[in-house]
Amino acid sequence: MKKVAIITGSSRGIGRAIALALALFAVTGHAETEVERGRYLATVGHCMECHTPGAIGHHDFTGGLGKGGQKFLGPWGESVSRNITSHKETGIGAWSDAEIKRAITEGIRPDGSRLKPPMGFAWYARMNDEDLTAIVAYLRTVSPKE
Ligand code: HEC
Repeated sequence: MKKVAIITGSSRGIGRAIALALALFAVTGHAETEVERGRYLATVGHCMECHTPGAIGHHDFTGGLGKGGQKFLGPWGESVSRNITSHKETGIGAWSDAEIKRAITEGIRPDGSRLKPPMGFAWYARMNDEDLTAIVAYLRTVSPKE
């Protein structure tokens, strides 16, 4: 009986150690910074494909990342993607975090005006605040462009 008890006790200990190792791996296995996560989310969200000059497959991601300027024609007329770099005047550098989040999820600018398609705020509307915070952190690192 005693032996069994010891075995059970130690296997529980091993179980705990494995659970702890897995938990640590779950945390450290994805040890990315908030900015890295934001860059990943902006990539899967296709932000920079619309917000960088050029056409599909020919974007100037090096010199023009986030600069905007792509034209989109549709039933709404014409819209031009905006500068979402950290530039304080031409970009969104002077916007607060909350203002950027509202533009992304609700399509409303700080002055209250509404964003036209194809800005995909309806697709981003249900993003959680943690992910939005990461995207904002990433956007703040996008070098300012005029
Ligand atoms: C399919 C193209 C497309 C995608 C994808 C897209 N946008 Fe946009 N975005 C636009 C267009 C076009 C506008 C301008 C709309 C207008 O002027 O009414 C815009 C406007 C904005 C604005 C407002 C800027 C300003 O100065 O008014 C922000 C902020 C923004 N987008 C951020 C993002 C982020 C962040 C993502 C990814 C999560 C994203 N956009 C994805 C096309 C896109």
